[in-house]
Amino acid sequence: MLSKRLSNITPSFTIGISSKIKKLKEKELNIINLSIGEPDFFTPDRAKEEAIKAIHNNKTKYDLASGLNELKKVIQNKLLSENEIYYEVDEIVVSNGAKHSITNSLLALLDEGDEVIIPKPYWVSYPEMVKLVGGKPIFVDTDKSNNFKVTVGELKKIVNTKTKAIIISNPSNPVGIIYREKELIPIVEFCLENNIYIISDEIYEKICYIDDYKSTAAISDEAKDITITINGLSKSASMTGWRVGYSASNREIADAISTIQGHLISHPSTISQWAAFGALSYCEEEMKAMVKIYKGRRDKAVSILKEIEPLSFIYPEGAFYLFIDISQLKQNMDYNGSFSVYFADRLLEESKVAVVPGIAFGMDDYIRISYACSTDELIEGLNRIAEFVHKIKNE
Ligand SMILES: Cc1ncc(COP(=O)(O)O)c(C=O)c1O
Repeated sequence: MLSKRLSNITPSFTIGISSKIKKLKEKELNIINLSIGEPDFFTPDRAKEEAIKAIHNNKTKYDLASGLNELKKVIQNKLLSENEIYYEVDEIVVSNGAKHSITNSLLALLDEGDEVIIPKPYWVSYPEMVKLVGGKPIFVDTDKSNNFKVTVGELKKIVNTKTKAIIISNPSNPVGIIYREKELIPIVEFCLENNIYIISDEIYEKICYIDDYKSTAAISDEAKDITITINGLSKSASMTGWRVGYSASNREIADAISTIQGHLISHPSTISQWAAFGALSYCEEEMKAMVKIYKGRRDKAVSILKEIEPLSFIYPEGAFYLFIDISQLKQNMDYNGSFSVYFADRLLEESKVAVVPGIAFGMDDYIRISYACSTDELIEGLNRIAEFVHKIKNE
């Protein structure tokens, strides 16, 4: 008998789709995969070299539960110089990817039944992570006309004495929108008034096409005190498989996270941590070059999508996703159950393009495509989507 906790958990939609595509690709080479949230670049050489050096120098023993001091120092510098937030080194904890940092944060904050606000559309894993640690995800609807950014008016409708935290993805997966400072300030004030912690998931912070990105914790000292800043190397340095993420928070929370992590995993692989040290110390130019390519792909995708009627989308300012409204095609399709799953399944079967159904992010009128694939694949995939939509309209 498995635990009751597990009966409530849905397997990851995106990981499920990836496995399906891997199997399909073995048989059918012609599939365009626009579903994957993984950079198509290799990890920069200097990051790999630091890992190799660590192996040769026998830096392969247990180390601090909260992560290597050398790495935490470069993270401290990064947060200060790029995000204008000063954290002490021991307020930073390095974990097995941002996923792990978020789960650790929830474990540190939540008691059984505590509520966590999750604005819709949300990243697939947030609700399941909250449930796994005994919390209750509380979804809040956001307005398309406000680019799906949550407002205090919306938060007021659902806050209560059990509300413990809110998770904000900024830049957002799946929409790619970015909260500006003036939009964050009222949210921070609301959270301060209601004793709510902010888990600010900034994993896409470097993949940003605007000049005025602001980390939530940089708003004020008070904001910093209630915010757990989450970041990592998976997306920015194309280091998904190395599994390095980190949290930065007030000392009390950082100590709690470190204690939890110490018992669960001791610490992330020292080799991977040295690679992350290399990436943050020496690979800024490579990371910037990747962002430039993503921006070019964003522009290309936007220009093609604009011409595909009746689809519409929110113009993304960061991350590498486009969240596409497919609702205008509902009347042309004879579906049962989830519309976005039906649409995505048919797109895969008939046009050999993989996308993620919006229901995975809590919104069934949408699909998400990723442009973390090659530009050629992106263009081919979008052209196939255009043909598919044309066919559906004429059915
Ligand atoms: C919004 C968001 N947060 C966190 C993660 C997890 O990142 P990591 O690979 O560092 O665990 C992802 C990965 O898809 C993501 O999209």
